[in-house]
Amino acid sequence: MDYQAVMDAIYTRGWVIVDDFLTAAEVDALRACLPDEWRPAGIGRDTLHQDNRDIRRDQIHWLDASLGAPVADYLARMEALRLAANRMLMLGLFDYEAHFARYRSGDFYATHRDAFAGRSNRRLTSVFYLNNDWQPEAGGLLRMYGDDEQFLMDVSPRGGRLVLFLSEEFPHEVLPANQERYSIAGWFRVNGSGNGRLDPPR
Ligand code: OGA
Ligand code: MN
Repeated sequence: MDYQAVMDAIYTRGWVIVDDFLTAAEVDALRACLPDEWRPAGIGRDTLHQDNRDIRRDQIHWLDASLGAPVADYLARMEALRLAANRMLMLGLFDYEAHFARYRSGDFYATHRDAFAGRSNRRLTSVFYLNNDWQPEAGGLLRMYGDDEQFLMDVSPRGGRLVLFLSEEFPHEVLPANQERYSIAGWFRVNGSGNGRLDPPR
């Protein structure tokens, strides 16, 4: 992967899509690490399951290298990205957290931002898709908006594709999926809430 091109894109427009970040075989290996146990995703500090269901219906399982070598490899790739972002963009990213997400038929995630200025230490979002042969009829598009909340683009959750975007600047939603949809959502975080922003802000 061309780190320079990826970081240039993040610097100039705040997002980038890397197709074939992993091969179909590598995606299959990651899918073989999917856990048996899932929990309803929470929203920030809100833990009221019923309220959550109006906003998001996916289920999650936090990633950790003990889930298998393919997961450990994935985390190592994210660590390399973190170091490249710090070296080339001076983002000061401190760590990375990620979870598997499962959307079953009918599941969605309403429009949200992953971080709000001053209230989160998430700076850069990653979403990696585990759906080889995803067809348009399967729905489940990632719909992205600009900071002004105007439509930006729809992204198909096709296997091997990695999406990176600045966590505070792009509202987004997951349209209802019509079949099981798997992804790894992750966040590069700063240590404390004051730093880690590109300067000047776009
Ligand atoms: C998230 C999210 C997008 C996707 O988990 O916060 O927005 O396409 N996921 O799965
Ligand atoms: Mn999100």
